[in-house]
This record gives sequence, structure tokens and C-alpha cells, in this order.
Amino acid sequence: MTTSLIHQIKTFLEETDNDFTPPGSARTDLAVYAEKMARNAAVFASYDAGKMVAMTAIYCNDPSCRIAYMTLAAALPEYRRLRLVSGLIQTAIEYLQRRRFKILQLRIDHGNDRAFRLYRSLGFWVVQEEPQGYLMELTIAAQPPVSDQAHYARHC
Ligand SMILES: CC(C)(COP(=O)(O)OP(=O)(O)OC[C@H]1O[C@@H](n2cnc3c(N)ncnc32)[C@H](O)[C@@H]1OP(=O)(O)O)[C@@H](O)C(=O)NCCC(=O)NCCS
Repeated sequence: MTTSLIHQIKTFLEETDNDFTPPGSARTDLAVYAEKMARNAAVFASYDAGKMVAMTAIYCNDPSCRIAYMTLAAALPEYRRLRLVSGLIQTAIEYLQRRRFKILQLRIDHGNDRAFRLYRSLGFWVVQEEPQGYLMELTIAAQPPVSDQAHYARHC
């Protein structure tokens, strides 16, 4: 199961490598990165005919301070502008809500305007400028208790 996920992520990273500046492979070994994500991150992915076409991966391994970190979000070129990545991030946010996380962080390079617009449209804010880009954060609203949800459902 994990081996197959590692392989899928590695293939996806290779196919999107040149969409990052500098390419991901110039920063890290893609096989090692794929294995790290498959083993340690919550991975949300879209598939077309069994092929991974979009994904996001989030490290949720800091439950004590309730901060999650999105390490990757991307779609294959022919699957962009289909709202795949924004849909995956929305699903990830709901998952983090259920796990009582408070903040989702990510880093974005200067000049990545497409991704910046996407993150802004989802409610992320720049919290820090760094030499290579920005640290952005989204505050994750707490889910109402189950009893309140039932109340809401009855009256709407
Ligand atoms: C950035 C990226 C992840 C967006 O993925 P996507 O699946 O196309 O995004 P969505 O379809 O969910 O788009 C949602 C919003 O993102 C923005 N957006 C996405 N592609 C865009 C483009 N080509 N031009 C302008 N805005 C764009 C828009 O705000 C869009 O909303 P709209 O369709 O109402 O205009 C994708 O282009 C990609 O994989 N890029 C290469 C890898 C990368 O840069 N990842 C981010 C690293 S921080």
C-alpha cells in the first residue's frame, strides 16, 4: 500500500518537476521526498483512470501546537484550472478541522502568482516574508459541536 503510494507520488513529482522554480529535484532527492510524504503526511489526491493527476500533502505531526504544514500542492499541466487542487485543499481543511488543528501553514516562492491567487482565494494570508518567498497561514475555524450542527440542520 505505502510502496504503491510512494511510487505514485514519485511519478507525480517527476512529471511536475519543471513546474517548480528551481525544479524540486534541484532541492531534494525526489524518491526520498516521495517516501517521506507517503509515510509521514496526510496525502489528498485526485486520480484519472488510476493515474495521480493532482495532490496535496500535509504534515500533521505537531498536534501539541495544532499547526499543520502543507508541503506540496500541484496538478499535472493538463489537469489545471479544473479546481482539483482547491478541492483537495478544502477536503484537507475539513480533515484538519475534525482533528482540531488551528492553523495550516505553507511556503510559496516569490513569483508563483497562480498558486498565490489560489491560496488567497482559500483564505490564506502572508504572515512572513522570507528570502525565497512567503510563509502563508490559514486559520482553521473550529467545527461546531455535533449537537449545534443538528440544531443548525433542523432550522435551515
Ligand atoms: C498552482 C496550481 C497548484 C493550481 O492548481 P489548479 O488545480 O489549477 O488550481 P484550481 O483549478 O483549483 O484553481 C483555483 C484558483 O487558482 C488560481 N489559478 C489557478 N491556475 C491559474 C492560472 N493559470 N492563472 C491564474 N490563476 C490561476 C485561480 O485563483 C483559480 O481560481 P479561478 O479558476 O476561479 O480563476 C497549479 O497551477 C500547479 O500545479 N502549478 C505548478 C506547481 C505549483 O506551483 N504548486 C504550488 C507550489 S506553492
